[in-house]
Amino acid sequence: MNDILIKKTTAFFEETFSSSPEKMVLSPGRINIIGEHIDYNDGYVLPAAIDKIICFAFEKNNSKQSKIIAIDLDDEFEIDLTKTVELDEKVWTNYFRGVINQLKISGFSFEGFNCVFSSNIPVGSGLSSSAALECGFLYGINSLFNLNIKPIDIALMSQKAEHWVGINCGIMDQFSSVMGLENKVIKIDCKTLDFEYHDANFNDYSLILFDSNVKHSLFTSAYNTRREECDEGLSIIKKHFPEINSFRDCSEKHVLSLEDKMSSEVFKRSHFVVKEIGRVTKACEALDKGEIEVLGQLMFETHHGLSSEYEVSCAELDFLVDTAKKENSVIGSRLMGGGFGGCTINLIQKGQEDIIKAKVSKLYFETFNIELKIYDVKIGNGTSLYNRN
Ligand code: GLA
Repeated sequence: MNDILIKKTTAFFEETFSSSPEKMVLSPGRINIIGEHIDYNDGYVLPAAIDKIICFAFEKNNSKQSKIIAIDLDDEFEIDLTKTVELDEKVWTNYFRGVINQLKISGFSFEGFNCVFSSNIPVGSGLSSSAALECGFLYGINSLFNLNIKPIDIALMSQKAEHWVGINCGIMDQFSSVMGLENKVIKIDCKTLDFEYHDANFNDYSLILFDSNVKHSLFTSAYNTRREECDEGLSIIKKHFPEINSFRDCSEKHVLSLEDKMSSEVFKRSHFVVKEIGRVTKACEALDKGEIEVLGQLMFETHHGLSSEYEVSCAELDFLVDTAKKENSVIGSRLMGGGFGGCTINLIQKGQEDIIKAKVSKLYFETFNIELKIYDVKIGNGTSLYNRN
């Protein structure tokens, strides 16, 4: 599938600019096994890059202008690199503008270039197509102009670009897009940015994504509000327990003892965060030991918390998880990513995948009149140059 994408992007570039690309970059989307909404709360997360990618082709154009063409959108824009970068009404262009802005305010100098891109990462499905876009674009400019930006800084600058666009996200998506490795999940310590690779070995179970095919408009504002609620929760905890610096140092007891000092929302968010930080450690140990049923159980618990305490689920995602949970051959299921739509991630017993897929699709369609999209997950490499020779 990626070969077709690469050929298409190359051919389009050659036709448009009558030259071959100087650099080509492949940048993946991501999944997350467990650890949701805790990357911005000093937690651990367990994501991986996937084999769905954005393909970019670049060349320098010896000017101070850059032209960026979105093949899939049949749209393009030009940007004058000598001017201050501003947000535009065309939302898709802002991720590129955000990256250019980051480069400029960080003092990097570079010249004009042409860029063409095309993607097979579904948009709005919680697979972080925007992180793949920012990281791949930045990676390409870095390589084209020898800027010597380290991979971790590519992730951090891309995260800042996303903030500039308007979502105050954590580091998980950009980090996993850049640092992904085939068949490995990454345990990221989001407080220190230390990380370890763990084998993505799920034994008798397959990782399957069910895409609800909905994206509720609440996403951006609710995401940013959750961050504020967590900040408020932590500041109340710190006031009463001065030895605590972050949610990492907190036990469930600390939070429970402050229930009457917090609004009900702030209490629920804080309680979820502390429990979820604990679950990731347990889940990673279970994965290492091959105790996949334990991992699956923790995923169900995460979903329950995301739905009832963090309140980022929706009717469609709850239905998908509840339906999966009724099946003996599904040992874990939860909403994945920011929530309010997008995918659930499921661990399904090998050999039973087709039966479950058919059953869930049918019930989902009967209930919501929406086609379920299904992706079999393959864990792939992080953002990299593609060598055509
Ligand atoms: C989005 C954000 C991430 C992370 C997840 C929830 O994908 O971009 O930083 O917070 O939501 O875990």
